[in-house]
Amino acid sequence: MSALTEYVDFSQKSLQIAALAIAFNPIFWNIVARQEYHNHFLTRIFGSPYRGCYFLAVVIFSIGLIRDHIYNTALGDQPYFAPVHQPYLAYGLFASGNLLVLSSMWALGLTGTYLGDYFGILMDAPVTGFPFNVSGSPMYWGSTMSFLAVALYKGKVAGLLLTVEVFVVYWFALRWEDPFTAEIYAKRERDRAKSKKGGKRS
Ligand SMILES: *[C@@H]1O[C@H](CO)[C@@H](O)[C@H](O)[C@H]1NC(C)=O
Repeated sequence: MSALTEYVDFSQKSLQIAALAIAFNPIFWNIVARQEYHNHFLTRIFGSPYRGCYFLAVVIFSIGLIRDHIYNTALGDQPYFAPVHQPYLAYGLFASGNLLVLSSMWALGLTGTYLGDYFGILMDAPVTGFPFNVSGSPMYWGSTMSFLAVALYKGKVAGLLLTVEVFVVYWFALRWEDPFTAEIYAKRERDRAKSKKGGKRS
């Protein structure tokens, strides 16, 4: 069999918890956002779409911090493997990953970053400047790069495996989210075209 078990201690509970946390977060925010889109339960609880979206933003941000903490703890329980210890590559990846995440938050704003579309808070126009001219989903790429950076900084093969999981989970999340949000905006365009026609008639 492969030598992978020499470099990854699969018996550590913390590794399993980290794997669960990584999968949980995007599943959670997509389910909550779709519920909000269909029945506006957060808008109703908080009395306005903006307050509902701010609440969801705080929740998503917090579970992100918890997941990052769980990931760091899990890597602490894992064996070190010198060839994976690449601090300079790690610094570069961490800096560019964070640049992608922070600049896309800056470009999208708080509600644009945290699923405002599902609350009916739509962007006026698609954001096409940096970092969206580098990647269609800079937030996901930036986040994945940061996970990789931590694995390389600490020299942990388990970190590489969990980074692959992050990549796969985000890949599925994008396949699920992108067509849905595209349809939200397409619907707005159809509604606008309709109300323009209606306006001319009256
Ligand atoms: C993206 O846009 C920024 C400025 O908004 C520009 O400096 C950069 O060169 C662009 N990158 C690509 C790959 O087009």
